[in-house]
Amino acid sequence: MNRNLALELARVTEAAALASGRWVGKGNKIAADDAATEAMRRTLDSLDIYGTVVIGEGEMDEAPMLYIGEKLGKKKGTPVDIAVDPLEGTTLCAKGMNGAIATIALAPHGSFLHAPDMYMEKIIVGPQAYGVIDINATPTQNLKRVAEAKSCYIEDLTVVLLDRPRHDKIVEEIRRAGARIHLISDGDVAPAVAAAVPGSGVDMVMGIGGAPEGVLAAAALKCMGGDMQGRLIFMNQEERERAVTMGITDFDKIYNCEEMAGGDVVFAATGVTNGELLKGVRYFSGGAETHSVVMRSKSRTVRFIQAHHQFDYKPVY
Ligand code: FBP
Repeated sequence: MNRNLALELARVTEAAALASGRWVGKGNKIAADDAATEAMRRTLDSLDIYGTVVIGEGEMDEAPMLYIGEKLGKKKGTPVDIAVDPLEGTTLCAKGMNGAIATIALAPHGSFLHAPDMYMEKIIVGPQAYGVIDINATPTQNLKRVAEAKSCYIEDLTVVLLDRPRHDKIVEEIRRAGARIHLISDGDVAPAVAAAVPGSGVDMVMGIGGAPEGVLAAAALKCMGGDMQGRLIFMNQEERERAVTMGITDFDKIYNCEEMAGGDVVFAATGVTNGELLKGVRYFSGGAETHSVVMRSKSRTVRFIQAHHQFDYKPVY
């Protein structure tokens, strides 16, 4: 994987954030998502890649752009697979709430889990707690192990979960064990990335969220040496059948980062609204400022990029 590609990816997520940033608080999540998707597609098409979308905005007959199987880039160079979420947290953006990001990951062809648009149970930690988590253990057992690995008390740990009734029991158990909880209304990729950044205030992410978001989180965690386990949650027979068409046959499999995002992975994200890790887009007269993170699994370099964009020189905006 060309290392300059990682920086090119920042341009891709910046474009998506700048486009959807105009829709912050406007109550229209579809328009916000469309704007991000269109901007991401246009920018991806300007790159020297032969890309195929494997995690995208939907199946070919469901989404006009960035659908699974879509070919992107100038169609030259090494074939790469692309996982995208042009606007992760569409409702957060529409309501002007914290935590919306534009995100993308690239890996050599065949390296991403082809996760269908369904749920995944996840447990995520940063590098300090690498190797100690077990999705089959109880939340209390995992908290004990993570606290031990981080040389702290369970009471010092903060766990992020989506605020959903399906998490009521696990939330109750985490509270009983003594850890702090941060319930979020949407957007579980950003806290997954934050869990691997020292000082972010996030120690763990637990619970059930989207499977495509799980693959993007795995790509970022791999670049930072964090750890994650994920298990697909099948709600009905139709989801099982769909998974089979995407190459999944073991319905109980527990996936680690490498199995979800293998090989030489690059990941980028730009804040759309403010978050624990990234600031949202700020517009000023004639331009805007964006805040992004770019990383590569090969070197494990994590770069934060604060960019000033002058729209007179970027006529597209
Ligand atoms: P959007 O698709 O609207 O951006 O929502 C994203 C998200 O909040 C993910 O971050 C999360 O993994 C998933 O949706 C949770 O799904 P659900 O809302 O069905 O619990």
